[in-house]
Amino acid sequence: MPLELGVLNRRRFLAEIAGAGAAWMSQEAAMATGGTMAPEGTWALISDTHISANPGEHHRGAWMAGNAGRAITEILSRDAGTAGVIVNGDCARLHGHADDYHHFAGLIEPLIHGRRELHLLMGNHDNREVFAHTCARAFPDRGGPTGRRTAFLPSEHVNWFLLDSLEDGSPIAGRLGREQLDWLASALDRHPDKPAVVMAHHHLKIRPENGRVFKPMSALRDSFELYEVMKSRPQVKAYFYGHTHRWEIARTREGIHLVNLPSSAYVFDASQPAGWVEATPREDGIDLELRCLTPLHCAHGERHRLQWR
Ligand SMILES: [Fe+2]
Repeated sequence: MPLELGVLNRRRFLAEIAGAGAAWMSQEAAMATGGTMAPEGTWALISDTHISANPGEHHRGAWMAGNAGRAITEILSRDAGTAGVIVNGDCARLHGHADDYHHFAGLIEPLIHGRRELHLLMGNHDNREVFAHTCARAFPDRGGPTGRRTAFLPSEHVNWFLLDSLEDGSPIAGRLGREQLDWLASALDRHPDKPAVVMAHHHLKIRPENGRVFKPMSALRDSFELYEVMKSRPQVKAYFYGHTHRWEIARTREGIHLVNLPSSAYVFDASQPAGWVEATPREDGIDLELRCLTPLHCAHGERHRLQWR
């Protein structure tokens, strides 16, 4: 399983990260920052936090820990993420060192105190084993594909299928592997009646309707195998991913929405926003709102009402 923090696990988790040295921010303090309130039962989606052991580290002009802290402050101040908070990989800065995860765990602590369910996925800059020993000792593997952290998350309007695309030894590209693809196919087949949203860290090498494939060399190596699993099952409505540090929404020919979550840390293209996304599933689709860390960014507050195929 990804690291998942249910109510019963919070006390144990907090014991695990005791001494991490992160500042505690109360929800009352977060509320003092102001901001509008989220709809009831929203998901807060964060990606590519890139947290280093060094709390002051900057990259490409961005302060990663400060940005993650601001995103978390806003999630709490808007009362967002009450259905859950998902961090879609690259939690760690570069190599997934234990001290990176200690710092990361301290930064997300306000979400735990704010009683948010947390789900953390693995990206190419994470280290699954170090992560498990550092952050997730309280959460045993519940029997997904061997060596992978996957999850099936049922919710009111959608079933989330969280995948682990970290490929050991690959610094950039990702791979799910046959066993994980089979797990996904069989999990989807057991739940055919509710819309399904699939999420993993890496982007796909699939040409969307707008005809552009973004950097195929750094994409999911088994994109086409995943695509086959998704397109042949009509309950699959969307694929959410991160990795590119871009905010973008596209669609496959079959009508599967492709949602590229922005990085909360830094961007490679100066025109791109850093931020997080608030997602509110409906019976027939999902509403998305981009929350930029720079409220002056032209995309801040951008809303998309996606309709299921
Ligand atoms: Fe990243």
